[in-house]
Amino acid sequence: MEFEQLIDELAKRLSSGQLIRATASQPRLKSEGMAKVKLKPVEIKKELHIQFEYHYERILKHENVKICDIRSALQQLMEQFKQMQAEFVDENVHIQLSKKFKVSWKSEKTAERKVADLSHNRKKNYLLDESSPYPFLIRLGVQTAEGKVKKQKYDKFRQINRFIEFIDDALDHLPKDRPVRILDFGSGKSYLTFALYHYLHIEKGLDIRVTGLDLKKEVIEECNRIAQDLEYNQLEFLVGDINDYNEESAVDMVVTLHACDVATDMALARAVKWGAEVILSVPCCQHELFSQVVAPELDVMLQHGLIKERFSALATDSIRAELLTLVGYDAQLLEFIDLAHTPKNILIRAYRTNKTPAGADFRRYEAFRDMLHARPFLERELKEYGFLS
Ligand SMILES: C[S@@+](CC[C@H](N)C(=O)[O-])C[C@H]1O[C@@H](n2cnc3c(N)ncnc32)[C@H](O)[C@@H]1O
Repeated sequence: MEFEQLIDELAKRLSSGQLIRATASQPRLKSEGMAKVKLKPVEIKKELHIQFEYHYERILKHENVKICDIRSALQQLMEQFKQMQAEFVDENVHIQLSKKFKVSWKSEKTAERKVADLSHNRKKNYLLDESSPYPFLIRLGVQTAEGKVKKQKYDKFRQINRFIEFIDDALDHLPKDRPVRILDFGSGKSYLTFALYHYLHIEKGLDIRVTGLDLKKEVIEECNRIAQDLEYNQLEFLVGDINDYNEESAVDMVVTLHACDVATDMALARAVKWGAEVILSVPCCQHELFSQVVAPELDVMLQHGLIKERFSALATDSIRAELLTLVGYDAQLLEFIDLAHTPKNILIRAYRTNKTPAGADFRRYEAFRDMLHARPFLERELKEYGFLS
């Protein structure tokens, strides 16, 4: 077989959906630093692509190649590597290229195997696959260099995956005719920020611009270094306070994961101010209401500090959801992570609607708030922005 025929044969198989996985190895030029490239089929915007995963010494890079470009991508690849091991639906193939590009093609028939259902199979498991190495997870110390999730980081991996599921569910609410603007408030070490960038941009091919904001200067500097190293060009991290943050462009989605206490409310209020289509927020350490709540009718419960703390946290999230509804969002409180893994297990999901709430909705909210003698931060913020009277 000639080299050109090899490329034609591979392109034909990859284009017709026969590939399960392949690895190109034995680089001709070691000096280029790339040890191998793994290939697998992926579906982006309902179209088959082949994902090329480039393995350098310290980092991985991904590229999703359209089927119309697959021949030239394969040509480039096979000019750089002397070996390829490929699994197709009914055949394993071992390809060896000589110095002068002479082709040896050895194949072995196998029982028919199914190509994974690219659109649905990953959803049933984790959206980020447990057994695949992800460059950002390796850099953030969630995975080992070989791509195994570290035991002590498993909860974080689970949280990120769960959050990404909610983001995936919200995709229909995001604009399709321009880059999608996303903010992660209180991003901290930014596991979530990197994960959503990876999932939406690298895996789904969406045109997005993402900003993570946090008070911690050193942490933000490190996040920016990682984003640069990984060439995540549309991802930036800024040092700052949520309350001082101003955004010029339209904001489409605001996310927060465990932003402390009223930092969550600041983020929600800003999201409303900007008219964000999607808000996804997992609150944390809701202390505000604990010091405010006085409700003699509930003393049987509230006399116990432990119960008062939990009640205050639940009342805070209920108030947040109610206020978001009163300013035109369709807001729900959903289980984020099983209670067995974390007590911080409520996610606020709010999609913007054109609905105008009825007077009775306001009265219902006010009656609840007044019964507790609560003065919620979010209500004050929304009044200040002119969304509530
Ligand atoms: C518990 S950490 C969560 C970090 C990250 N979202 C995660 O889940 O790994 C909370 C973060 O919120 C940040 N934060 C708290 N108040 C903030 C504010 N007003 N403005 C910006 N960041 C804030 C803190 O610096 C901290 O990094």
